Amino acid sequence: MQPQITVLDAGGQYCHLIARKVRELGVYAEVAPSETRASELAGRKGIIISGGPASVYDPGSPTIDPALLTSGIPIFGICYGLQLIAHALGGIVEKGERGEYGFAELNVTDEDTLLKGLRGDKGVRHQIWMSHRDLVATPPAGFRALASTDTCPIAAMGSDEKHIYGVQFHPEVAHTPCGQQILANFVEGVCGCRKDWDPARQIESIEQHIRDVAGGRNIFFFVSGGVDSTVAYTLCLKALGPDRVHGTYVDSGLMREGETEFVRESFAKLGAHGFFVEDARERFLSALAGIVEPERKRHVIGEKFVEVQERILEGEHYLEGGWILGQGTIYPDTIESGGTAKADLIKTHHNRVAGIQKLIDAGRIIEPLSSFYKDEVRAIGRQLGIPPEMLERHPFPGPGLAIRCLCSNDESSPQQVEEGWILPIRSVGVQGDSRTYRPVLAVEGFPASEAETAALINRRTDVNRVLAAAYLTRPLGEMRSRTAHLTAARLGRLRQADAIVRRLSFASGFEKEVWQFPVVLVPFGTADRPDSVVLRPIDSVDGMTARAVRMPEDLLHKITAELAAVDGGAAVFYDLTNKPPGTIEWE
Ligand code: XMP
Repeated sequence: MQPQITVLDAGGQYCHLIARKVRELGVYAEVAPSETRASELAGRKGIIISGGPASVYDPGSPTIDPALLTSGIPIFGICYGLQLIAHALGGIVEKGERGEYGFAELNVTDEDTLLKGLRGDKGVRHQIWMSHRDLVATPPAGFRALASTDTCPIAAMGSDEKHIYGVQFHPEVAHTPCGQQILANFVEGVCGCRKDWDPARQIESIEQHIRDVAGGRNIFFFVSGGVDSTVAYTLCLKALGPDRVHGTYVDSGLMREGETEFVRESFAKLGAHGFFVEDARERFLSALAGIVEPERKRHVIGEKFVEVQERILEGEHYLEGGWILGQGTIYPDTIESGGTAKADLIKTHHNRVAGIQKLIDAGRIIEPLSSFYKDEVRAIGRQLGIPPEMLERHPFPGPGLAIRCLCSNDESSPQQVEEGWILPIRSVGVQGDSRTYRPVLAVEGFPASEAETAALINRRTDVNRVLAAAYLTRPLGEMRSRTAHLTAARLGRLRQADAIVRRLSFASGFEKEVWQFPVVLVPFGTADRPDSVVLRPIDSVDGMTARAVRMPEDLLHKITAELAAVDGGAAVFYDLTNKPPGTIEWE
């Protein structure tokens, strides 16, 4: 199937959001590198150039093939994409010093094509989301301004003769409610795309593809209990029948309460015959003894997975000719771009298994979901009859509770500062493209607003997170960091706290309102209560950026009341930090 729309990736995280939004219109869209040659894009109905963090004046910033601009294919530039078009066609891009990040109001002055239906009654303004430094000051010859904001005179421009358009804001994000209308105006109105994309109706052809690739061979999976591998496994099960598809789940001992039973039962319900659980709890725990540094933990866990998988591959004869490997790889994992660099890094431990690499090199691999996004995988899963409690699960990291159970070799006291207390426990954060590993700031009451939280974190460059103390058994100044490692007892404590939080947030419906809700154990407390629990509910679209979410007061009371009874717990903190500067996990 040929895509109708290609989204050219100009860096950052936006290209996949745009492609997903176009697919929501029922139109098949793909993502490709910004420099893709015009000749390779022949036959497309339209091209969208994504936003990105660069300036057109930066040396080496993303570019497009200039032939595209005279190819006659309709083009829509978003943010950096707009600036790229303006710059290439002789308009003037002004270098911004401070930039503009956040909500703005769009004043539509021309609703002939791109902004059709948006002017409405006189005086109607639309909320939009801006995130840029540079601005188009003068459009190229033949282009006219279509909309403005108070600070941006050319918030949208276009040329109906050339079929080229651009906007300075981000129509693909949820903060721009009229964005989907604008994308539809381009995709349907300007490009004339027809509806050709419905993932749930592709199940038959996916199953046929699986049968074609497998031929007479059987398929085995390493399943994680996550959405992608479960749906991929189920498709293979349906395509080949239960006797020809095996799945092994590795129990690392780093999973949440009840996880192994949940996965076992789910696969039994799906009709799997060849489902096996490999108990590797002891192996992982003994390899992790005494380790504090987060990257070191990740490395050891990766190595153990390699060892265990290698043993299963050989022991079960999966490397022999009668078998191929099934994987739950989804579309964003297959494409190299700024936004997915982290995903590549995260998944390295799978690729490093020599046996698996051998299978990949020999083409003995099937990835039935490699052209779908997560929401589409869920739609396919629903159509297959996989129950919602499996499909709607929050993402859970491969290294599991190990990265939510912080360790320390250090015993020291918090330091009082004007804003609150600096706790002597360090967590991972991210600023720009670099990783930070810094202490956190704890305040005793909840800040009144998000702006107040942001101000706190902006004032102190020595921390990367702000926490509010939600429950304390002793004043903060009387607690200290504790020497602590990954032990069965501490993992048990975290598992218990996590199960309480999950149960209560599920019962209250709060679980549905957040994208992910890590519960973290930190070695900070008193002699007889050496640990504290951190609550980290966040909202996100893809995990690349995230917003801290405040839960309703009564739910917080219920949660802290039950957490207070967890043995060894000294305090409950609430992480109020967005990503950036904090990451979602603490590590
Ligand atoms: P951070 O902490 O970097 O996390 O803000 C972003 C998202 O990635 C998930 N995550 C992982 N997922 N294996 C995974 O499959 C991993 O090693 C891993 N590390 C982080 C994290 O839960 C969040 O959703």
